[in-house]
Amino acid sequence: MSDYILETRDLTKEFKGFTAVDRVNLQVRRGHIHALIGPNGAGKTTCFNLLTKFLVPTRGTILLNGTDITGEKPAQIARRGVIRSFQISAVFPHLTVLENVRIGLQRFTGTSFHFWKGLTALRQLDAKVLALLDLVDLRDMAQAKAADLPYGRKRALEIATTMAMEPELMLLDEPTQGMGHEDVDRVTQLIKRVAEGRTVLMVEHNMRVVSTIADRLTVLARGAVLAEGNYAEVSRHPAVLEAYMGSEATELQGAH
Ligand SMILES: Nc1ncnc2c1ncn2[C@@H]1O[C@H](COP(=O)(O)OP(=O)(O)OP(=O)(O)O)[C@@H](O)[C@H]1O
Ligand SMILES: [Mg+2]
Repeated sequence: MSDYILETRDLTKEFKGFTAVDRVNLQVRRGHIHALIGPNGAGKTTCFNLLTKFLVPTRGTILLNGTDITGEKPAQIARRGVIRSFQISAVFPHLTVLENVRIGLQRFTGTSFHFWKGLTALRQLDAKVLALLDLVDLRDMAQAKAADLPYGRKRALEIATTMAMEPELMLLDEPTQGMGHEDVDRVTQLIKRVAEGRTVLMVEHNMRVVSTIADRLTVLARGAVLAEGNYAEVSRHPAVLEAYMGSEATELQGAH
């Protein structure tokens, strides 16, 4: 099997003649936390939407474990173990934290409403629910309504419901967006924890986050790949510094 779980070949997206993603060749190594970064308008979200099949590419191919999935629908890639968090895994606000995670697990295992399945199956399910709550540090809030959780904790719950689907590749779209420092650090550590034994591809603006947890980074600018490497490498890459100049230069350098 290939070292790369996800690859793109000359992935391109044009909007009425404007090239938002320009012949991007991504290689996401199995087991890595891979970050997609770049200044505003670089094409990160468009690229992410191509990978999660929310957008259809103009040209190029997407390979998952060596299989061409370019023509597949979101539901098909979800079945292949590619799960996009923060969009698909809706949280039910009026249910408790515990109920939300349980429903996520039931959806995945297909045991929803099979109440006749007996106590053993239910107990096994509950054990899994509690393990997931422990993983994301929400056990003490199990009985709280999802709607009552603070913002950062809601994200943790979303991660738990995504984890319930046992993704092989987890795609995160700006997981720390709109968070205060404390929540950013919490969610960063949480991603690191849930990334064990799987692969994570994340779009992220926050350089502190990517410098802390990303094994590898791809820097996009004007739709094309500008640089690639670990944080130390890309953060001192002249083209990267130039691309960030003005907008986020301080952020890029200020991470360490
Ligand atoms: N549906 C669309 N139609 C036309 N142009 C688009 C569309 N979506 C994105 N673009 C353009 O493509 C370019 C890349 O946008 P994209 O949202 O992918 O960038 P980004 O890297 O996610 O930026 P940000 O950091 O601001 O989120 C931008 O110039 C944007 O205006
Ligand atoms: Mg974006």
